[in-house]
Amino acid sequence: MNPTTNIAVRAARQAGSVIMRSFGRLDTLTVSEKQTNDFVSEVDRNAEHAIIETIRRAYPGHAVLAEETGKQGKDEFQWIIDPLDGTTNYLHGFPQFAVSIALTHRGRLESAVVYDPVRDEMFTADRGAGALLNDRRLRVTEQKGLKGALLGTGIPFRDQRYMDAYLAMLKDLTRETAGIRRPGSAALDFAYVAAGRLDGFWELGLSVWDFAAGALLVQEAGGAVSDIGGGSRHMDTGNVIAANVKLHRDMVQTIRPHLPADLSA
Ligand code: IPD
Ligand code: CA
Ligand code: CA
Repeated sequence: MNPTTNIAVRAARQAGSVIMRSFGRLDTLTVSEKQTNDFVSEVDRNAEHAIIETIRRAYPGHAVLAEETGKQGKDEFQWIIDPLDGTTNYLHGFPQFAVSIALTHRGRLESAVVYDPVRDEMFTADRGAGALLNDRRLRVTEQKGLKGALLGTGIPFRDQRYMDAYLAMLKDLTRETAGIRRPGSAALDFAYVAAGRLDGFWELGLSVWDFAAGALLVQEAGGAVSDIGGGSRHMDTGNVIAANVKLHRDMVQTIRPHLPADLSA
């Protein structure tokens, strides 16, 4: 494992203990709403602080982009951090959330960690060296098409501009697959595609910290990640599809007719 991935693992474990310490006493947390349906608690902030401290100690010159504190520093290396992905689940005691940490070098993903502190599952990837769940090597499924596939998704809940288009995609994909799941943590959804627990995943309007680590996990597990229209700008647009290569093609084809003009580039 790369030294940078090792540091990310250490940082993710520290954030995980901050998160789990408060999971048994959720009623005592102070929660605020950043925007409609977008909640944050002191756990998000404390977990982020723990991650950044650990990374800073090892790599003081690196830049950071973190959900709660934004951009800090300027460097060829940038850490992209979501300290608690799935905050709404967490605040309801619904045990599906994760820590997500990625490292980019000149914009290219190098290291990825997604950590589920409930199940103590550590998903890691180094560019060019594959993806792991704890010590086990990960591989996307060999599902050949939509028939029989299990897909993950995220239902738009903040920005409702594309709700009708999204529902049309959901309808077609529900008809053609074995089922659709909306677990509520995009970082884990990507990790589950990498681990073969989901055959594919799509969502509109993600932020880069939701899926930067997840994208490298899927790629290193042999899968494809793209923009919702099939292009390569997903890290900028946040509209994403991830799956094995064959299924990815079928998902793009099913989704494309429903894409609003401004998303189809
Ligand atoms: C959210 C989760 C969710 C996705 C949202 C994200 P947060 O992250 O990943 O699954 O549907 O778009 O914002 O706010 O819990 O870190
Ligand atoms: Ca998130
Ligand atoms: Ca978050």
